[in-house]
Amino acid sequence: MRLLVTGGCGFIGSNFICYWLKKYHGDKVLNLDKLTYAGHLSSTIDFDENKNYSFVKGDICYPEIVAKCMKNVDIVVHFAAESHVDRSITDPTIFSRTNVLGTQVLLDAALRVKVKRFHHVSTDEVFGDLPLNSKHKFREDTLYNPHSPYAASKAASDHLVRAYHYTFGLPVTITNGANNYGPCQDPEKFMPRAITNLIENTPIKLYGKGDNIRNWLYVEDYCSAIDLVITKGKIGETYLVGGSSKELTNYDVARLIVGFFGLDKKYIKFVKDRSGHDRKYAIDSTKLKTLGWQPKYDFDKWLSKTIDWYKKNTWWWRPLKAKAENLYRKTGQI
Ligand SMILES: NC(=O)c1ccc[n+]([C@@H]2O[C@H](COP(=O)([O-])OP(=O)(O)OC[C@H]3O[C@@H](n4cnc5c(N)ncnc54)[C@H](O)[C@@H]3O)[C@@H](O)[C@H]2O)c1
Repeated sequence: MRLLVTGGCGFIGSNFICYWLKKYHGDKVLNLDKLTYAGHLSSTIDFDENKNYSFVKGDICYPEIVAKCMKNVDIVVHFAAESHVDRSITDPTIFSRTNVLGTQVLLDAALRVKVKRFHHVSTDEVFGDLPLNSKHKFREDTLYNPHSPYAASKAASDHLVRAYHYTFGLPVTITNGANNYGPCQDPEKFMPRAITNLIENTPIKLYGKGDNIRNWLYVEDYCSAIDLVITKGKIGETYLVGGSSKELTNYDVARLIVGFFGLDKKYIKFVKDRSGHDRKYAIDSTKLKTLGWQPKYDFDKWLSKTIDWYKKNTWWWRPLKAKAENLYRKTGQI
């Protein structure tokens, strides 16, 4: 098979390419990535010399580049996106451009060459949020109710993907995943920011009261879910992907991280809340589990391994840290 992976220099995309090349030896993977502030060639060093891997630097919004990359492609796995909620609050325009227009350019090109599958990687944030004390979970039939410009742009892209299936018969699948964690996540995101702060002997910065609730999905569990949906999922269908963690408040996660460093809660500092901060996400993955998927990675164990990864790979995140903190200087969450 020949895969076009978009956004393969980002967090989940780079982990996915690594996963796929290890598992499917004969497959060829072409990575199309614009190398925005969130795309790092340093995230591809584990596979960039693999003879089945190639890289094109380019923007998914440009039809000519996309058409070239789409030649002879069997499967598209579409990760490329602007993905940081805080940035979508300070600068929403690029989110509409990349996440909506970019997805449509890819869909058009995929339709022209008649790909066997277009897999769209999306998020549970399209469903909005749940009250903190809610016992409900998001399911595939939950109505879309995105709150942030990021979530709204991802929701729009999900709708476009489904529209290309219903209107033009494009063979699509979608996964909506929970919060991912693991190696090669940019230090501007909550968990790597917290870990790298502590390595630099700076407190974790927690928004508001830290009572927002999230479910955590180890990145390789998201990769295996995407793999299963591509290989066994039903065309036209959506699958929700939740992680092995309990529903944890951000304060719970911060306390765990501080504990792994042998520190105490003095290393947790509360800062200004995110505007429109979603209260709670919870996912019911029953539909995906009926295909035979289970999250393999235990949260506490793989949080600890993730911390070890950031401790060992300071070369990877140190050059990115100042830029990440600059963002929070602008938003006052420092
Ligand atoms: N991180 C999460 O917790 C999470 C959870 C569920 C779903 N998702 C979704 O998974 C996907 C990947 O998320 P991530 O956390 O790896 O994102 P990321 O920000 O780490 O990486 C995004 C990648 O896309 C590239 N990119 C951005 N704009 C581009 C463009 N116009 N053309 C080509 N490449 C472009 C960037 O250079 C970068 O390499 C996104 O679609 C996101 O919505 C993320």
